[in-house]
Amino acid sequence: MKVVKVGLLGLGTVGGGTVNVLTKNAQDISRRSGCEIVVSSASARDITRPRICNTDTLHLTTDSQEIINDPDVQIVVELMGGIEPAKSLILEALSKGKHVVTANKALIANHGNELFVAAAENKVTLAYEAAIAGGIPIVKAMREGLSANSIEWLAGIINGTGNFILTEMFEKGSVFSDVLKEAQELGYAEADPEYDVEGIDAAHKLCILASLAFGMPLNFERVYTEGISTVTPLDIAYADELGYRVKHLGVARKTKMGVEMRVHPTLIPEKRLIANVDGVMNAVVVKGNAVGPTLYYGAGAGAEATASAVIADIIDICRDLDTPAVNAVPALGFATSGLEELPI
Ligand code: NAP
Ligand code: HSE
Repeated sequence: MKVVKVGLLGLGTVGGGTVNVLTKNAQDISRRSGCEIVVSSASARDITRPRICNTDTLHLTTDSQEIINDPDVQIVVELMGGIEPAKSLILEALSKGKHVVTANKALIANHGNELFVAAAENKVTLAYEAAIAGGIPIVKAMREGLSANSIEWLAGIINGTGNFILTEMFEKGSVFSDVLKEAQELGYAEADPEYDVEGIDAAHKLCILASLAFGMPLNFERVYTEGISTVTPLDIAYADELGYRVKHLGVARKTKMGVEMRVHPTLIPEKRLIANVDGVMNAVVVKGNAVGPTLYYGAGAGAEATASAVIADIIDICRDLDTPAVNAVPALGFATSGLEELPI
């Protein structure tokens, strides 16, 4: 069986989860990919720190360049987060003809237009399923399952940490800062948790989803962004009294003026499906003009749930190593901040 060597840039929550899932599901994964996928090396800032995965067979390094320069590594998986050095490392990997998988929504949202062009120029794949909604295969659903549709709108809970906090505040009356600390300990939160609680992470994901749905360039600056940091236990209690749940939603939809993109806390009638998506779970409703509304639900964050999406991308690349798909993001759109109720 063909051996495919993978190098990980970053061995934290998602990197460790990726090694663990590749190990525990090795047989199924090789049957589906037609390859033996071997993580040969991983980089981290401090390679003496304990890890959530076994590192016995890994070459660990603090120098990510070593992985990029290794001619045996065919797939580079970027799981370090942030803009630099992740962006330069990915560009270099692409220029060396390596396929790249990333979970880095901040990078894709802000620099994806440039990165996808570099991938196309080098005839390699840049895959990013794990960048949106953790383990939910929403990118594959949009690119493949819904590809016959014109998308009218999409809406969903796309930040696990925020939903975990709102759920705990609603169910247990917990204090915001305590629940945020718990989300960090569980590996759900971003390195800078402001990204979760101020809606920035959801805005990154929404802008990627909108570009997939409406065939427009990534346009993060156009997302109206409001987080959950101002939601108080009293807001949640009043909403409950009136028969509503407070959920943080991302919404993108076509309007006569272009594409509207917004993330903000929303009152949702308690009987709606999306009002009952709790904890770290995410859910995205996508309305196609042929299929009607479709719903995608699953864990929005966490080591193995996110690894599931990372590895699905690795398997896709392995299946098609000689003729990779190119993830181009064409056309134009813009956002407004109007607020309208949607039938979700
Ligand atoms: P994490 O636990 O903080 O892990 C980051 C890893 O990258 C660590 O191993 C860190 O090294 C390493 N690293 C950071 N900067 C580095 C550098 N300059 N050189 C070498 N290594 C470096 O983060 P994570 O939660 O796994 O998230 C990784 C990425 O996945 C982010 O883009 C995040 O947005 C995305 N994501 C996360 C989740 C989730 O549930 N956590 C879900 C979806 C997507 P040390 O270990 O030595 O510090
Ligand atoms: N911090 C992110 C979240 C990780 O909580 O949704 C998954 O993208």
